[in-house]
Amino acid sequence: MVATTSLSPIGVFDSGVGGLSVLRAIREQLPAEDVLYLADQAHVPYGPRSMAEVRDFAEGITRFLLAQGAKLIVVACNTASAAALYYLRETFPEIPFVGMEPAVKPAAEHTDSGVVGVLATPATFQGALYASVIERFAKGVKILQHTCPGLVQQIERGDLDSPQTRAILETALRPMLERGMDTVVLGCTHYPFVIPVIQSIVDDGVRVIDPAPAVARQVGRLLDAHQMARQEGAGRIRFFTSGDAQALRRLLPTLLGERGDVVTVRWWDGRQVEIA
Ligand code: DGL
Repeated sequence: MVATTSLSPIGVFDSGVGGLSVLRAIREQLPAEDVLYLADQAHVPYGPRSMAEVRDFAEGITRFLLAQGAKLIVVACNTASAAALYYLRETFPEIPFVGMEPAVKPAAEHTDSGVVGVLATPATFQGALYASVIERFAKGVKILQHTCPGLVQQIERGDLDSPQTRAILETALRPMLERGMDTVVLGCTHYPFVIPVIQSIVDDGVRVIDPAPAVARQVGRLLDAHQMARQEGAGRIRFFTSGDAQALRRLLPTLLGERGDVVTVRWWDGRQVEIA
């Protein structure tokens, strides 16, 4: 592992482009930080996979980001957090990790109707993290869940508002609206990219909760607590993908609002990531 300082980068990863919604918030709040972003597009979607498989991916990616000098790791993926966050914290006790969990707490606090919809992947719904969030925060609130099959793949293609994307969201949201839902939790980091479509299906009275700004604030707090925040300069991002570098490069301006070079990585031995 490389010795880190405040000048070291933050490591951020997701199965694909979803974590860019978190990276966008990190860029807004912590513009001086350098970032390494890895999209494991060879394996997207993570959602239908087993927890054990996703945990192995998360560990391999974490080892790669640490080898590249990361000082803190953001698991910018609810599914990988569900599968691996506890395990990563145990395996790398000296590294600060920030993970994602569906934002049921603020939703439960703000709902008037008492009906909250959660959109997340099957693995996220199965995880202990989600069960604990529901147990702690959803008392007296009706939680409706949907896995939005196919939506992650649509977003990976940059297909943010086609009739197919809209149909997936209509199928998920209409029955929730009929049951009185007034708050939607985006429990998958891909979904903030389709907020305009979600907002056009639900009416203005329905709150849509994107946890990315809160996650970026937590990154800032942890960096401060470890005296690792970078105070000055304009941070740079290095992008890595285990999938198609060209395709990711093309999507960056739309999804992140920035351009960047993308380096291809490959999986080796099913468990380790290396630069291709
Ligand atoms: N963006 C991810 C999440 O937050 C993963 C989606 C997937 O790969 O299925 O859950």
